[in-house]
Amino acid sequence: MNMITNHPPTEELQALDAAHHMHPFTAGGALAEKGARVMTRANGIWITDSEGREILDAMAGLWCVNIGYGRDSLADVAARQMRELPYYNTFFQTTHVPAIALAKKIAELAPGDLNHVFFAGSGSEANDTNIRMVRHYWAMKGQPERNIIISRKNAYHGSTVGSGSLGGMSGMHAQGGLPIPDIHHINQPNWWAEGGDMDPEAFGLARAQELETAILELGPERVGAFIGEPVQGAGGVIVAPDSYWPEIQRITTNTVFY
Ligand SMILES: Cc1ncc(COP(=O)(O)O)c(C=O)c1O
Repeated sequence: MNMITNHPPTEELQALDAAHHMHPFTAGGALAEKGARVMTRANGIWITDSEGREILDAMAGLWCVNIGYGRDSLADVAARQMRELPYYNTFFQTTHVPAIALAKKIAELAPGDLNHVFFAGSGSEANDTNIRMVRHYWAMKGQPERNIIISRKNAYHGSTVGSGSLGGMSGMHAQGGLPIPDIHHINQPNWWAEGGDMDPEAFGLARAQELETAILELGPERVGAFIGEPVQGAGGVIVAPDSYWPEIQRITTNTVFY
């Protein structure tokens, strides 16, 4: 076995981890008894633990290591940027070269008229920002009552108060008095678990049409946005039937943004 030796032994690291480090979405007591797996290195699609075991990282970190680990070009450019300008804010009529370059690139890649980029530090923070942005957008257009955001049960949009409210996980809602007001959840397009005797296409259409029903019941003048993961990740890697998204597109085009 190819042991890694430039760190304390695994048991010592596990004890320190249990003593001082809180893990998200984890029962701390049970993990402390078992001992967390300590990751020490990664390259390409492989991660290596403190016992030298190589593991295929099929989940790409938390779905986010899209180009693999250990890219020299990224390490080099990050090191150069850290020396040149490691940080500056863009609050007070200032900007900087990486922000400009990345915003331009994302605008080129994004479809249609999605040409303006607001940077956040995480997905949760981005979705909290989305809540405020949607509500403020409609308020600025003279429709402050259009503040309801429709989401789906078993969706995951992050773990802050706002993004956890957008998400539809009842276990998360049970912690801390979520959801915040004016978030409405409809059923998810999970044919595999909830389709019953319906064929996938009919089920996808029915679940999409729940959006239209909800908009009409809540009042079209009250609904500001719909949020949905293209593929539900944390909820179970749920791919909606092919009929689902075109119907959602039809409904949002016709009903919400008229
Ligand atoms: C669809 C989706 N939105 C938001 C988030 C939250 O992102 P972050 O963990 O960066 O806060 C996740 C995280 O897995 C996600 O899968």
